[in-house]
This record gives sequence, structure tokens and C-alpha cells, in this order.
Amino acid sequence: MTDKWAAWLMGRRDGGDPGVRRDHHPSLAGFRDGVLERAAVAEGDVVLDVGAGTGLIGFGALDLVGATGRVIFSDVSGDLLAECRRQAGDDPRCSFVRASADDLAGIGDASVDVVTTRSVLMYLPDKAAGFRELARVLRPGGRLAIFEPINSFTVDRGRRLFGLDFAPIADLADKVLAAYRGEEVMVDFDERDLLRWAGEAGLTAIELDYRAEVEVPAPPLPADWDALRRTAPNPLAPTYQEAVDETLSTEEAARFTAYARNLIEKGAPRTTLMATAYLKAVKPGLPEVP
Ligand SMILES: C[S@@+](CC[C@H](N)C(=O)[O-])C[C@H]1O[C@@H](n2cnc3c(N)ncnc32)[C@H](O)[C@@H]1O
Repeated sequence: MTDKWAAWLMGRRDGGDPGVRRDHHPSLAGFRDGVLERAAVAEGDVVLDVGAGTGLIGFGALDLVGATGRVIFSDVSGDLLAECRRQAGDDPRCSFVRASADDLAGIGDASVDVVTTRSVLMYLPDKAAGFRELARVLRPGGRLAIFEPINSFTVDRGRRLFGLDFAPIADLADKVLAAYRGEEVMVDFDERDLLRWAGEAGLTAIELDYRAEVEVPAPPLPADWDALRRTAPNPLAPTYQEAVDETLSTEEAARFTAYARNLIEKGAPRTTLMATAYLKAVKPGLPEVP
């Protein structure tokens, strides 16, 4: 049995649907490139990717550090580190550290040139502590680049299932949505907090790129309900089927499912709203000259 982080990244995110995995790839690659460009990863760098997952950012960095650089993959999930290890094979430039972003035990002070992290800090109850740890391990002159969804933007404007119009069965949709209200840790901050925490951690040259999108086409989902109901919107959330089972009676579940299945399978237009932020910053001081 894999842990919840691995279960989501390697299954519940896309319901195991190869078509959706393929459709997701361009946006994931865009996030990866957005982080790596801001990190200005160069040949010979030691890069630490925090919350490496299946290695989206870490393996992207590996392509940039050349023969003399190194990438440290770190994560709380032993299953995901095992997956990164499997992909790395016997590449001596890769190492693996199991640690939480707010306590990077095993990674020395001022020991890395670059820290990257994508969609990880939002899971920390104490996000300021996470920023302090990221700053601690950077050498003077080292660079931090992060990407985080700003979920408070979405939640403040009302959530909508699958980006579809559930108005005719709003009572049922609201009950199902109630199953997704237990994720406070993911919505208790916004982009201004990211700026503040980076400054409080002693970082400098801080730049934030914030993007809000309203009524834009929603990201791809499985095109049939039976695949979609096995997906979950994030690692802490139930799948849609679990949410239905938890919140609706048998008769309500049948009505909800018939309505959702019809909209999904006829390809009804879906829109979403979301906000995201990239932040880059530098640890003050000059690198030591050997
Ligand atoms: C949404 S995934 C993102 C994975 C990867 N960064 C990517 O861009 O594909 C969240 C990752 O954060 C990791 N994670 C969750 N809590 C963490 C913590 N406290 N410290 C470090 N990593 C954590 C999970 O194991 C998972 O790999």
C-alpha cells in the first residue's frame, strides 16, 4: 500500500488514465520550466528539490547541472523517493533525502546552490518555518525558486465541481463539495504571505509573479465518468466517488451520478478559476571563494 502522496501522484490524480496523463503534461512541463528558469540552474550547481514527488523538477534540473552538478531529491514520502531512485538508476549525480520541508534534517547549512519546490509549501502547517529551512540550506548567493497554487483565491469565490454547471442539482452538489472542506492547510495563505515569509527568512532580491485566471477552460479530466470518479483533486482529498458515498444517500447518489455522467460524457464546456504564484529570491552574501 503506497502512502497518500504517492497514491495521488501515481494514480488518484488522473485515475490512471493515460490520455489524461498525456494531456496534463504540457501544463506540468510549463510549471517545471517556470521554476527552473527562475532558479537559473547552471552547470556544476548543487540543486535541492524539496517535495520532489515523481521528480518533475528534479529530473528537469538534472538536465541542466551537467556532469559536475548534483541534484538532491527530498520528500516526506518514502514511496516517491523510491520512484525517483528507480528513475535515476545508477546516476551518481542524484541523491535522496527523506525529510520534511520545514525540517530538512540531513541537509547542511549553506550547502546547496539552488533550492526548488513546486506545490509543496501549501501542505505545511507552518509555512514560515518552511521558508526558514529553505533559506538555511542555501549558500550565500544561492537561489530559491518556488511555485504554489493560491487556493484561497478559488475558495473565496466559491468552488464548482469539475467546472460544470450543477445548478439544477445544486443541493446535491453542495453536499458533495462539503466533503472537500477539510483542507484548510492548503487555503490559509495567499501570495502576499509568500512575499512576507521570504523576507522574514532573510532572503533578498525577491520577485513574485502572480497570475489569476477567471472563467478559463478547465484542465483536462477523464472523458468518462467511471474514470473521473476514481480521481481526486489533491492528495488530501477523497476521490469523487468517495465524496459521493460519504455525503449522499443511495437515491441522491444515483441522481447526482446520472447528472454528472451525462455532462461529462457529452463533453459539456467546463471553465475554472485559479491563481498561482512563482517566487524567486536570493540568499544574501557572496559565495566563498575556494
Ligand atoms: C503536489 S505534489 C508535487 C510534487 C512535485 N514537486 C511536482 O512538482 O510534481 C506534493 C509533494 O509534496 C510532498 N510533501 C508533502 N508534504 C511535505 C512536507 N511536509 N515536506 C516535504 N514534502 C512534502 C509530497 O510527498 C509530494 O511529493
